[in-house]
Amino acid sequence: MKYRINPLIDAVNFPPISEVWEWVAAGRHPGDMPLIDLCQAVPSHPPDAGLVAHLKNLMDDPATYRYTPDEGLAEVREGLCAYYQRRYGAQMTPEHLCLTIGASQAFWLTMVTLCRPGDEVVVVVPYYFDHVMALDMLGIRSVFVPFDDQNGGIPDPRALASRINERTRALLMVTPSNPTGVVMPPEVLAEIHQLARKNDVALVLDETYQAFIPGGGRPHNLFCDPDWSDHFIHIASYGKTFALTGMRAGLLAASPDFMRQALKAQDTMAVCAPRLTQQAILYGVTHLDGWVAAKRDQMQRRHDLFVEEFTKGGNPFRLVASGSFFAWVRHPFPGHSGRQVARLLLEEAGVLTLGGEVFGPALSGYLRIALGNITEDRIAEAVGRLREFPV
Ligand SMILES: Cc1ncc(COP(=O)(O)O)c(C=O)c1O
Repeated sequence: MKYRINPLIDAVNFPPISEVWEWVAAGRHPGDMPLIDLCQAVPSHPPDAGLVAHLKNLMDDPATYRYTPDEGLAEVREGLCAYYQRRYGAQMTPEHLCLTIGASQAFWLTMVTLCRPGDEVVVVVPYYFDHVMALDMLGIRSVFVPFDDQNGGIPDPRALASRINERTRALLMVTPSNPTGVVMPPEVLAEIHQLARKNDVALVLDETYQAFIPGGGRPHNLFCDPDWSDHFIHIASYGKTFALTGMRAGLLAASPDFMRQALKAQDTMAVCAPRLTQQAILYGVTHLDGWVAAKRDQMQRRHDLFVEEFTKGGNPFRLVASGSFFAWVRHPFPGHSGRQVARLLLEEAGVLTLGGEVFGPALSGYLRIALGNITEDRIAEAVGRLREFPV
């Protein structure tokens, strides 16, 4: 191209998952070993058959092909309020909700509504890489709270407090965490919410994996506070919950005042989430509690089996933290970056992982292992390839 592009975009690295799939496309894995994908956190199971049948019926309805209101259909947001009441004990009305094109768009909507270029967001490390890529592109400064190996990734609220100043607009966390799988304890979240309140900044929680919390317990009590939306913003992905990642099923929950402002951005960014996707979410939250629980338990079994295999003696890789979709491990090559080790693992063992440094500064000693794509019968082989990797 002969024209100039936005230097803020130019400075951002290429998306890491796309990069490792480029390695695969270039034939970098051994031809005699089937590839084992431990790279992307996508549920391997198909969506519920009843949900698919429902969508097929809707495709005969001409209304399916029309815009909805920018914030989404009222009946879908009502169904979601009932779901949040069951799941979180939430005090919520449809005015708190906007359907989005995945959690990804909910994040952009949140940040363009909260921040101007030069504003700051306190980001708990390890972070979800797309978040910081987006903040960088928007000229918003990420102020990092470093990862502490010893506490398994649960942040100290005092570390967040020390990073707040007059430019801070938000405190950003992911729970359950991508990449560590760690579920933030409700009391830690309550403390961080208090911090947001004290400083009049937003606590932004990305809860993409909330449906996979072991045992299905309530993720936190923040929504039970009648004033929750004064300082709390929630981002959700129903792509993971209902195995609909390609339908781009996301949600933003925030105060109605915030939403009035965010809808200006929504109108220019997307107009609305696809109507069929909204209907899929409504079907899911009204019919699929049992299905979701079964998938959660399946992921848990997969995780437990992986941990059992991984932590048997003699593994040069060390498990630091884990939770249903993810394991966060320390690799045994001190002179190598995580990216280099990920590439070696692909080239020599046919295993696809992500290097730790894409999740934040000073993390090149780690790898993220995602368990969404590996079935129970292949876990022993996957771990075996790591265990036997020459160090
Ligand atoms: C923490 C986190 N947030 C958001 C997303 C993106 O979700 P969606 O596909 O709904 O945009 C992902 C996807 O992996 C994720 O891990």
